[in-house]
Parts: sequence; structure tokens; C-alpha cells
Amino acid sequence: MPNDSADTDQPDLHIADIERASLSRVNDWYLGGSFNTPVDRDFAERVLHVLPAARTMAVDHRDFLRRCLTYLVAHGIRQFIDIGSGMPTLGNVHEVTRSLSPDAKVVYVDNDPVTIAHSRRLLDNDPRAIIIDADLRQADRVIGAPELQQFIDLTEPTGLLMIAVLHFVPDSDDPARLIARYRAALPAGSYIAISHLTDETTPPRLREQVRACTSAHHDISPLVPRDRATLAAWLHELDLVPPGIVTAHRWRPDRTPLDSPEHDLTVAALGRTTARSQTTAGTPVADPYQPVR
Ligand SMILES: C[S@@+](CC[C@H](N)C(=O)[O-])C[C@H]1O[C@@H](n2cnc3c(N)ncnc32)[C@H](O)[C@@H]1O
Repeated sequence: MPNDSADTDQPDLHIADIERASLSRVNDWYLGGSFNTPVDRDFAERVLHVLPAARTMAVDHRDFLRRCLTYLVAHGIRQFIDIGSGMPTLGNVHEVTRSLSPDAKVVYVDNDPVTIAHSRRLLDNDPRAIIIDADLRQADRVIGAPELQQFIDLTEPTGLLMIAVLHFVPDSDDPARLIARYRAALPAGSYIAISHLTDETTPPRLREQVRACTSAHHDISPLVPRDRATLAAWLHELDLVPPGIVTAHRWRPDRTPLDSPEHDLTVAALGRTTARSQTTAGTPVADPYQPVR
């Protein structure tokens, strides 16, 4: 979201627990944003010390998001639910989609108080984007939120985005069940995009770094790397958009992807809901995708 006035370029710190780093503000710092505090920056530096690829990961998630949105708008999606939306840094869903289609609508969902307050201020006069304060683990609350229900027509195909957020949800919260609940709320022809931390194919050195990073994160949140088989199980009711479940930088790249193990830490996929798991029929769209070599 653009900083459209001088008083919107700092976070609403008075409502924040600034003794403690927040996922959202740390991510903002990785992405080069200004909505973060010394505590966030200290935490991010500590993470970078054990996992120097942390910033590359944040960028890979955002780049995947941008390419996904381009695909979704090209395939007729005009309403989006972005869960775990994060600080309004750059390349937010309403900015990207609106640059492609001015009628796109976006509901952001996050549970970080500063993110909520700051996003609300920036979206105050925006008739086509809102933010809801909710925990994604309460899927019924998110889907049933009156603001969301008024804003999004859940009989129409919708893009549901979970970018760089599910790795903060431990197995004890049953992410598979949560995703199934979100999926069931969407009509056929909708899409679910997921990007996630993985250490599945990384060299032992990087795997060790990921382990150190998950330990460092214990101060603020669980952090759980997962493999492609887990994403496949989560998305098994959906038709995966080619190339399927791959490292994020290899998902429909718009330039030749770099061959660096750092990029192997983010796995991503986009799945389309079908009539077999939903009740409303959608229209399949031809896909001329050719992988970049
Ligand atoms: C790493 S940031 C990712 C932000 C954005 N999706 C991106 O890719 O740049 C993760 C975001 O998820 C939010 N988050 C984490 N757990 C959440 C939960 N249980 N419910 C809602 N939001 C959550 C955090 O507050 C944070 O803003």
C-alpha cells in the first residue's frame, strides 16, 4: 500500500507490544519496508545470523504472490481473501490486482494489532479493500465475518491466498483441516495459493540453519518447515495449476530462475477448486503455460 501521507509511514506503536518482535514487522524489514521497530530489527538480525537466506525467502514469497495474482486476474478472478496479509509494505494484493483490473476487491486478514491498525488507516477511503482482525485458525470466524460476507460474494470464484503464513501454524492446530474448511467455503473455480517454508531438498548446511531459525522463532511463534508431500495432502481436492508444487521461484517464473539452494527454502502451489469438492460449477480456462528453461 502506498504511503499516501506523511503520518502513515510509521507503525501505530502505541497499540503494539514493542518489547516483542512481531512476525509482520520482521517480514516488513526483510522486504525493505519502514513499518518496524528496533526490537523487530534486532530479531531479524538474529535470524539472519543463523539463516542468511531469510531475506531471500521473504522476497521469494512476495514474488510468488505477484505472479499468482497475475495468473488469477488473467483467469477472471476479481475477488481475493489474503490471509496472513502482513504489514502493508510493497506489492500488496490490492495494488497488484488493481493494476491489472481496477474492479478487483480484496479482504485482508491478519491477527497482528499493528498490521490491522496500520492497514485500516491506509485503506480508510478505499471502497474495494478492507482488513479483518482474525486468527486464521478460526476458519469459521474468518469466513463468517460480517465484513467479509458483505464484501466478497462467496458464490463467485475467489482467490484465497495463504502466503508465508501456514508455517506459523503448528500441526496441533491441524492446518489440513483448516485448509479443507476454507476450501469448502469457496465455490468451484476458486483458487487457493500457498507458499511455505521447506527444508526438504536443501543441503545439510541449510537444513541446520533452518533448524536454528525455528529455534530462534520460538520467542515469537512456532515455525514449522514442511515438505511437498504435506502440501500435496493439503491440496489434494484441488486441481493444481502447472507446474504444481515446486519451489516458489520456479512457479511460472517471469525470468530464468537462479540455481541457488537459498531459493529451495520456499515451496509453493496454486490449486483450483473443482465441482468434485464444491457444489457450484466453475468454468475451466485453457492454460498455455510453457516452463521457462
Ligand atoms: C511472514 S508474514 C507474511 C506476510 C505476507 N503474506 C507476505 O508474504 O509478505 C506472516 C503474517 O501472517 C500473520 N499471521 C501469523 N499467524 C497468523 C494467524 N494465526 N492468523 C492470522 N494471521 C497470522 C502475521 O501477523 C504476519 O502478518
